[in-house]
Amino acid sequence: MSAKKPNPPSSLDAYYEPSKAFSKAARIPNKAAYKKLYNESISKPKEFWAKQAKELVWRKKWSKVLDWKAPFAQWFVGGKINICENCVDRHALSGRKNKVAIHWEGEPGDQRSITYDQLHKLVCRFANVLETQGVKKNDCVMIYMPMVPEAAVAMLACARIGAVHTVVFGGFASESIVDRLEDSGAKFIITADGGWRRGKIVPLKPVIDHALEKITDVKKVITLQRCGNPVEMLEGRDLWWHDVMATASTKHEAAALDSEHPLFVLYTSGSTGKPKGILHTTAGYLLGTYTTCKYVFDMRDEDIYWCTADIGWITGHSYIVYGPMAMGATQVMYEGAPNFPDFGRFWRMIEHFGVTIFYTAPTAIRAFMKAGEELPAASDLTSLRLLGSVGEPINPEAWTWYHKHIGGGRCPIVDTWWQTETGSIMITPLPGATSCRPGTATWPFFGVDAAILDDAGQECKAGEDGRLVIRKPWPAMARTIFGDKQRYRKTYWSDYEGIYTAGDGARRDKDGNFWIIGRLDDVLNVSGHRLGTAEIESALVAHPAVAEAAAVGRPHDLKGQAVAVFVTLKAGFEESDALHDELIRHVGEFIGAIAKPDDLYFAAGLPKTRSGKIMRRLLKELVCQGTISGNITTLEDISVLEALQAKVVAID
Ligand code: WT7
Repeated sequence: MSAKKPNPPSSLDAYYEPSKAFSKAARIPNKAAYKKLYNESISKPKEFWAKQAKELVWRKKWSKVLDWKAPFAQWFVGGKINICENCVDRHALSGRKNKVAIHWEGEPGDQRSITYDQLHKLVCRFANVLETQGVKKNDCVMIYMPMVPEAAVAMLACARIGAVHTVVFGGFASESIVDRLEDSGAKFIITADGGWRRGKIVPLKPVIDHALEKITDVKKVITLQRCGNPVEMLEGRDLWWHDVMATASTKHEAAALDSEHPLFVLYTSGSTGKPKGILHTTAGYLLGTYTTCKYVFDMRDEDIYWCTADIGWITGHSYIVYGPMAMGATQVMYEGAPNFPDFGRFWRMIEHFGVTIFYTAPTAIRAFMKAGEELPAASDLTSLRLLGSVGEPINPEAWTWYHKHIGGGRCPIVDTWWQTETGSIMITPLPGATSCRPGTATWPFFGVDAAILDDAGQECKAGEDGRLVIRKPWPAMARTIFGDKQRYRKTYWSDYEGIYTAGDGARRDKDGNFWIIGRLDDVLNVSGHRLGTAEIESALVAHPAVAEAAAVGRPHDLKGQAVAVFVTLKAGFEESDALHDELIRHVGEFIGAIAKPDDLYFAAGLPKTRSGKIMRRLLKELVCQGTISGNITTLEDISVLEALQAKVVAID
């Protein structure tokens, strides 16, 4: 780790360079190599991506690299491919046959290592199961599982037969499942009895059963037995994973699918109460995740890679399942909480498995910081060579702590900016080439034409805040919002003609580094997870006592942002501590524990404009600063605000 000399203004502002040895061994060994390839990728994107795509296994070569009718892209038109074959068969049937694909550790401490050959057999068997149970190409299959290898097996098996998976994070509650079943039209569900989290069983199948009281047209539910908690099985609909797998053949031919065959729908929060189903397709997504694993993580056969995300988020899709497996990587997968039985768990696992590349989230790093540096110091972390961060801006304090106490001052950190919609990493250091300054995701990846624009569409000058945009299509980009092309166009492509708006505010410093400031829309980033304020509000108004609700974010030391809500009650309901707690619990039960408000204020009225719109901006100011200094001339009734201000200040 040597801070660039002369004289960094303060240690938090310093540049960190990769070691000479790291750079020398890296695929992109210096800035000049990055710049050269980047310029090529931008001036001749089709040639660049076609060359990269030759490293994949194709059933039929494409006839056209890109068909771009903004905002709809088709990549590798005319090609036939199977992503599961690329992630599994090609390793299982080659020199990587006996290489470990997954070292898995359950939260109670149970371990399994699965080779590519074994993974291949599991995936083939489950693909046969799906077909036997009536799943057809293009059918949507919901996956609601804990972090067990079978979750990856289920995803890969869907991809193998051309079914479209929609994975729902195991922390979501039954109402969220209902929404996603309705929107996706999934008729098949893969789940487990439960999963382990902080020493307790988190039931999953019972949550599905609850959702299926409302959605009655689901044909089959296959349940993995993980925890042994009691579950009910409905005759004719519900099957045990072990029963159906017992007789399934290990032979299965992967379907030859169009490059643009839909691969998955993943729901993410937006500015309305309904999450958006982001649709990703096959070849471009595979290429994006593969190429970023190759250059950003500089993955090698000898690496032991560990991404701590959950499979229910895009990070789990792209950087646990598809990207690393396309590279034939060996990875660690962990079921449980980072602090079980204590915050030393990850460090002991890194020592045990000899992890070389570690990819986690700033919120986790801040929690580790708080738990103290003695915990990482108690484990041997010298196997690590590269660290990564994703999900939200990483504050420089957390960055330097991560660098020193986890990376031993020796490992480059790739701070990777991307989104569910972008599919793969977009702005990031390349570990052997980039000078890294804590807090910035630095430079765009190959083929990514990122810029920061002002309202008029002009590029911002250094130091000026604007909107982060991408000006050219890229292979792993979302293709649409499932079932809602109009919303896709409006949400991402309507600010500037033919240009993708990410929804993030950003600026570039005088050296050209991209600094991501945060969301510009009504989306919160709580512990690296996206939450729509409108979703939280709809959950609250679904409670019989609530008349109106407004949710806003406020800064939080560990989570990045915390959720504060204001509610007005219907006539006949009284403010009370019991109701306060009940409403918080209600949001958790409605959406999932991640959405539970941190603060809840009862209000006699909410600040509104004369046309009746809730002025969230004022509420935000109130919870962030305790006072309102902004413009309130459009406010309909000033007394509402005065009453609220007294409340917020009193509680703080
Ligand atoms: C939003 C996307 C990408 C996978 C995890 C989250 C924020 C993500 C960074 C980063 C600053 C970041 C942005 C983005 N974000 N990574 N390295 N630096 N902000 O995926 O749920 O789709 O959320 O997360 O605000 O828009 P997601």
